[in-house]
Order: sequence, then structure tokens, then C-alpha cells
Amino acid sequence: MGGGARLVGTVEVVGAKNSVLKLMAASLLAEGTTTLTNCPEILDVPLMADVLRSLGCTVEVDHGTVSIDVPAEPSAEADYRSVSKLRASVCVLGPLVARCRRAVVPLPGGDAIGSRPLDMHQAGLRKLGATTEIEHGRVVAHAKELHGAQIWLDFPSVGATENILMAAVLADGTTVIDNAAREPEIVDLCVMLSQMGAKIDGVGSSTLTVYGVTGLAPTDHRVIGDRIVGATWAFAAAMTCGEVTVNGVDPHHIDLVLDKLRTAGARTEIRADSFTISMHDRPRAVDFVTLPFPGFATDLQPMAIALSAIADGTSMITENVFEARFRFVDEMVRLGADARTDGHHAVIRGVERLSSAPVWASDIRAGAGLVLAGLCADGATQVWDVEHIDRGYPRFVENLRGLGADVSRVRTDPDA
Ligand code: UD1
Repeated sequence: MGGGARLVGTVEVVGAKNSVLKLMAASLLAEGTTTLTNCPEILDVPLMADVLRSLGCTVEVDHGTVSIDVPAEPSAEADYRSVSKLRASVCVLGPLVARCRRAVVPLPGGDAIGSRPLDMHQAGLRKLGATTEIEHGRVVAHAKELHGAQIWLDFPSVGATENILMAAVLADGTTVIDNAAREPEIVDLCVMLSQMGAKIDGVGSSTLTVYGVTGLAPTDHRVIGDRIVGATWAFAAAMTCGEVTVNGVDPHHIDLVLDKLRTAGARTEIRADSFTISMHDRPRAVDFVTLPFPGFATDLQPMAIALSAIADGTSMITENVFEARFRFVDEMVRLGADARTDGHHAVIRGVERLSSAPVWASDIRAGAGLVLAGLCADGATQVWDVEHIDRGYPRFVENLRGLGADVSRVRTDPDA
């Protein structure tokens, strides 16, 4: 890819990766066919479909629509090979315990962004009356019956909130999840569960009250737009002094991001499900602190680093959610960024221009951040291992080209 282009135009954003995978898992809670629309065409969706097939479901993935036919008695044991490829597949744990009173879910592999333990998922399920152990690399859970409980999370974990919520909807009695995560994807899950017949109060707040019901029905649901993808385009526009309209995302899901970009000098126009962002000068340096929603999303930390790398001034970035997420900063340094990390802080002194280099994407968001940096580098930057980006950004290269970026995908066939 070559640097230097100003991104101008309109980009359409579809459903959120971090929503669709949980909604697919939630379909397990009801016998029959659940249909999800506005699904992103990313690799993780067919991988999750394989996980559900290994549990006895019939799954059809057709462009933006996913239909899942759940049998009366799904299998409680997820297939190792499917689960190991997809970290998010651990979210079948809660629905399986609720539906089958038993679950065997292999532990997904490690992750380049840091350790991702399941202690809060397990502690929550235990409070609901399940036993859970890690045995032979698998989470094994049993529950004769599930009952309501008061659960306090040590940290508002997205995955733990989702697993506990999906088990609690079919528990006997009332469950209160305190210090619950409040991400828009959790709200989307609550909306779908409510459509299925679940009774949940406090949706969107940090206290969720779940009144258990005896059964749920399948439903049709449209996945919310991907705020992380939408915000990535906002950063791309700001970094290239461009003007981009982003459709399909609720701008209020990224209020803080847009406010930071305005502080950096951008102008924004906000509409119901769309926004336009434009930038006319080199961005000014701003500080970023990652926190659970409504804080600045850790998934956007690489974009914050990329922006800071070319901003006028010095920025401090603080990472509070995933300890190893700064590992990719070395790749930014390869592109000429003046960046230093110490523990969970990074200090970046902006330079006027980055310089192209071969760099390696270690995860979805690091990959996107490196591509954004490459847009502001002299010469042609090669980003390797871009399969990571495919896991989160549908049609990334096509969308970039549509906005005027000089970028192409070079197939490297190992057998060639
Ligand atoms: C989800 C998102 C991910 C996002 C993250 C934080 C999906 C598929 N992934 O990941 O893109 O970056 O939320 O917004 O939705 N933790 C524990 N014990 C637990 C659970 C979590 O210590 O039992 C820790 C984690 O190590 C991490 C922090 O809590 O440091 C946040 O993790 P969590 O919110 O659970 O993230 P995920 O659900 O894995």
C-alpha cells in the first residue's frame, strides 16, 4: 500500500462481530430457527457456525443472513477443533449450561493481546448452582438445576456478563449481576433475549436483573452496527485529513471517540445511524485511556497509537484492559513512530510523516492500526498476516480503495 491519499467518500458498516457471535450462541437457548440479519461477512461467523454445528444445530450462512436451527436436545460437548480457532466460542458455555444442564467447552487458545482467563465466567455460573472445573484443557460444567443469585463481578467483563446472563435467563428465580459490562453489544444481546421471552431489567446499566423463565422461543433479529469498525473509519479520515461519511453505526456508541477526534481538530456531523467526519489540518496530539464502555474501547487503542504517531505533539496512551496489547507498538516503531511503552502506558511523540516498512499484524485491531499508519507513510508499506484483519473487518481493502486509498491485497500462496 502507498501512503499519502486523503480518504474521501462514504462507507457502509454492517453488524458488529462482537455482537453476532454472542447472538449466534444465544440461539441455543430456544428450540427452532433463529435468524440473524445484518451479519458481517467475516471469517469468525463461519467458524462460529461450525461450533454450533458440532452441537447438533443446522446452520446456514448466506451473505448477511445467518439461520440457526436448534434441535430439541443439542449436544453439550463442543468440538475441540472448531472452538480452538475462535476465542469467542467460549460464549456457548452459558447457553449450554442453561439448556442441557451440562457443558464441555475446550479452552480456546492464547491470544496476542494478553491472557484471557475465565475465572469470572466460572464464579458466576457456580453462584447460579453449577459446578465448573477445568479438566484436560476443557471447561466442564454441570448443574442439576440453576437458581437465581446475587453476583458481583470484580471487573465489568464482557464475556463473563454474557455467559452469566445467558445462563440466568433460564434459571429458577431472580439473578442480579452487579458491575455488569455495559457495551452496546450486551444491550443488543439483552434485546434479542427479551424478544425470545427473557425478562431482564436494567438493560444498558451496570446492574442487570434477570427474572428466570421456563422456556424461550426462537426469534428474528438484526445485529447492531459495528461501532469499532465505524470508529476505525473515523480515525482513518482524521489521520489522512479526509472527509468520510460512515453509515450503519449509531454515533452515540462512539461519542467519546468522536469527542477525542474533535479535540484533535476534526469536525463531525451526527445523524441517527450515520456520521460524517472531516479533518483539514494535521491532527493535534490527544491522550487516550482505555476502559470498559462507555470508556474508550481497548479495541481502538491501536488506532489511537496510529493517530498519535503522526499528530502534532506528544500523547500518552494508557491501556487498562489487556496487558499485552502494546506488543504491536514495535511494529509502529518500524514505521518510524517515536513511541515508548512502560507498563500500561505508552508515550508517543508525533512525527510529520511515517516511513514505509514491512510490518506484521498480530491481531485484528493491531492489523487495522498498522494499515492506517501505512496510509500516512512515505512509500509502499507491506502489512503481513492480514488474515487477522479479515476476522473483524469485512471488505476492508475494497472499502479503503472506495475511499481513494492506494492499497491492494497481494495473495501469497504458500504452495506457489
Ligand atoms: C470482549 C471483546 C474484545 C474486547 C473486550 C473488552 C468479544 C468477542 N471480544 O472480549 O474485542 O477487547 O471484550 O472490551 O466480544 N478477565 C478476567 N477473568 C475473566 C474474564 C475477563 O480476568 O473471567 C479480564 C481479561 O483478562 C481482561 C479483562 O477482564 O483483562 C476484560 O476482558 P473481557 O471484557 O472479558 O473481554 P472479552 O469478553 O474476552
